[in-house]
Amino acid sequence: MTSRTVLVLVSCLLSVITGWVVARGGGARQTARERPLIGLSMDTLKEERWQVDRDLFIERAAALGADVVVQSANSDDTRQLTDVQSLITQGVDALVIIPHNGAAMARAVELAHQAGIPVLSYDRLITGADLDLYITFDNEAVGEQQAQFLADRIKAGSKLKLVRIYGSKTDNNAVLFKRGQDRVLEPLIAQGKVEVLFEDWAADWKPENAKKIMNAAITRAGQGIDAVLASNDGTAGGAIQALIEEGLAGKVMVTGQDADLAACQRIVRGTQTMTIYKPIAELANRAADAAVKLARGRPLIARDGINNGSAEVPTILLDITAVTRENLRETVVADGFRAEADVYGAESP
Ligand code: BGC
Repeated sequence: MTSRTVLVLVSCLLSVITGWVVARGGGARQTARERPLIGLSMDTLKEERWQVDRDLFIERAAALGADVVVQSANSDDTRQLTDVQSLITQGVDALVIIPHNGAAMARAVELAHQAGIPVLSYDRLITGADLDLYITFDNEAVGEQQAQFLADRIKAGSKLKLVRIYGSKTDNNAVLFKRGQDRVLEPLIAQGKVEVLFEDWAADWKPENAKKIMNAAITRAGQGIDAVLASNDGTAGGAIQALIEEGLAGKVMVTGQDADLAACQRIVRGTQTMTIYKPIAELANRAADAAVKLARGRPLIARDGINNGSAEVPTILLDITAVTRENLRETVVADGFRAEADVYGAESP
């Protein structure tokens, strides 16, 4: 019996006993290097959050004795595929992909697997491919908490007039955020407690596209907007810019996600109402741990599994927290994710 056969048998046994899904590990190719080399293919580095992800991931991998080569595709699918091909040519032992387009990157997984390289989908799911591992936050819960925050603030006897700004259509997460939001909003819409005045998808999650959506919403609805359900802090920032220009900032509730520094500052100032804090350090650390294990050909255990249209992908889901002005200090600041002085600036006690 080969060691690979033993691994598969142990995996099956564990799955039966625990119900957990067991990731395959190193594939056909075993690293000959002392220090494993991990390829990190990123959609973009233009948003604040992804720079944090990159830095924390590299730091953890280095602490585990691994090196990381990073490529960023600038929201371009063709470029991201070329990036992955270049990482494969450089002989990486494991690939970590943050896809711009979850469906388009199925091809990248295929190419990596042909070269015997395991692939971890980071934060965003690659669909239609037999992935080795997916690690992310509970994305539907993100959408639910954003919508619930607004639902809890509907005044008795009145209807909440809402603008909805979704993320990038090519990002599976954007679909999941919307699904979570819908779960909360649909019954309220049916009961006449919420009315959606305007809704659209912000291409590539770009703040300037969110601003255009908000401008169009204001043109259509005038001043009668109570809240903007923006799917992340970048799009919230774009929407708030439009609100500022109309003298409406601070008068309209705005949601977000990521606890970006700029968003935390807006929450303090009162132009943004909430964000979702996702502990990126946990994501980056767990992903680096997993990537190094995959690179070394070691097995991994994931508690959850998500069907991505092609396979039941072993999945690690991390928790999130809703953040307002009331709990900013006890969450984002206490966790060391943001420095008090940065968030509060001159208002810092
Ligand atoms: C991430 C969000 C991020 C968005 C835009 C999503 O896939 O989960 O945290 O704000 O992409 O980059």
